[in-house]
Amino acid sequence: MMYTPEMLASMKKVEAAREKNIALEPRRLTAEEKEALLKQYHPDYKDEGFVTIEVGPNKGEKAPVELNEMLTAHSRVADMDLDLTKVDYDVDVLVIGGGGAGSSAAIEAHEAGANVMIVTKLRIGDANTMMAEGGIQAADKPNDSPAQHYLDVMGGGHYANRPELVKKLVMDGPIAIKWLNELGVEFDKDEDGTMITTHGGGTSRKRMHAAADYSGAEIMRTLRDEVLNRQIPVVDFTAAIELILDTEGKAAGAVLQNMETGEILIARAKTVVIATGGAGRMHYQGFPTSNHYGATADGLILGYRAGAKLLYQDTLQYHPTGVAFPAQIFGALVTEKVRSMGAKLINSEGEAYIHPLETRDVNAAGVIRECSTNNKGVDTGMGKAVWLDTPMIDMIHGKGTLEKRLPAMLRMYLKYGIDMREVPILIYPTLHYQNGGLEIRANGETTCVKNLFVAGEAVGGIHGRNRLMGNSLLDIIVFGRNAGQQSAKAAKETTVKELTLEHVKKYEAELKNAGINSDKYSPKLLPNYAKGRKDI
Ligand code: FUM
Repeated sequence: MMYTPEMLASMKKVEAAREKNIALEPRRLTAEEKEALLKQYHPDYKDEGFVTIEVGPNKGEKAPVELNEMLTAHSRVADMDLDLTKVDYDVDVLVIGGGGAGSSAAIEAHEAGANVMIVTKLRIGDANTMMAEGGIQAADKPNDSPAQHYLDVMGGGHYANRPELVKKLVMDGPIAIKWLNELGVEFDKDEDGTMITTHGGGTSRKRMHAAADYSGAEIMRTLRDEVLNRQIPVVDFTAAIELILDTEGKAAGAVLQNMETGEILIARAKTVVIATGGAGRMHYQGFPTSNHYGATADGLILGYRAGAKLLYQDTLQYHPTGVAFPAQIFGALVTEKVRSMGAKLINSEGEAYIHPLETRDVNAAGVIRECSTNNKGVDTGMGKAVWLDTPMIDMIHGKGTLEKRLPAMLRMYLKYGIDMREVPILIYPTLHYQNGGLEIRANGETTCVKNLFVAGEAVGGIHGRNRLMGNSLLDIIVFGRNAGQQSAKAAKETTVKELTLEHVKKYEAELKNAGINSDKYSPKLLPNYAKGRKDI
């Protein structure tokens, strides 16, 4: 690997200080220190990254510039003359999204006897769930409790979390692990079968269950198998481009578009579950992302135009340890498990400048501070970065540990000639998670649109203003299953009236009245990295 002389000189300092840094326990920051750090360095506090929303249910509130651009773009169906009486799919429950939340919802809706269908713009499993690495939290050990987990989640989220959603998350946590285990997820276990659990940032107990460092892939593999074994219909490479309501204002289906042929299809449903995932590919404030290719906030746009409210749309998670070098994997995730196994964050001078398991927002702000004001970042040619001292892991736990517990990380770096057992790696924050999303009640239904349910990363409120590691894999299971059960139940009690897209016309009129005439169409569906090309 071609390190620059500056990198090599700094790496020497890291190596020289390693023994001392292993022994050192950087002190935890006080609440006041954390707040000051966040305000000065966290991207959520950068005024230039946000604008005021001018239309719709959250008018007057703040949103990221890039999200607002999509909220004020034209509907993709605005210029279409659609006959909603010609229905291509007629189901009880329509699940939009083929990741962990969508699959869990579909499995439970099917279990409840509903005629359920998944529609996904890529393929089932092309989702952030598949990319998740470090693990899934649940308080199922004797020294732990859902109450303890609740306190951690609330503290991590700056107490902005919706208490009823957190309660459901933590109370159903142990059931979620049991469900996954019985479906066939190969969790890491001791020889006697006890699940191995570790800490994450902001956890007071070791409750992170994992499958090495490909926990999400293992969970997604199992869920996908279950969906396919049940023969739940999956319509892939087909995006939902607008929600359809009925004349009573209830969610009643979606306009679909085949991603390859452009063909338009109409799906009618008694209930709809939005499980479209995150927004990393919106590249808020120009950040790289750890997210999959289709993470473009589609569900937020669809729900919002149909009248659903957003909650905490102005808060994003920047994972502190994104790859900063080499360029080929810039922005990819370096799991927090690396830090929970003992690797420390070290600046260019070899100083362990912060506790490695402060919450994510705090550690992301800390990295940015070292690389800016403190001028203790290492130049990578693509910006500044700090070190994550990975050789510490085998020094602490014994040779072979990193290979056994972090095989995916090791393999990712070895491809580029970097052996993270021998040398530290360079990291910088990467856009990882959408803390906010559509507002729901504890039954998973949106607060403003009947029969519209949401699960997974498209939900706002579970994690407040900052999510802790491993609570996303948990929430896709808990709230995915919940949405499946509740939407199937609601479908039994629902009669769909005449289908309508009146809400789209109203929204377009609102845009016009506000003097907004965008040249863009939303949802975005896929990012466009080709210079000079219009979005798809
Ligand atoms: O660092 C990680 O492995 C990420 C986990 C998460 O976002 O929950």
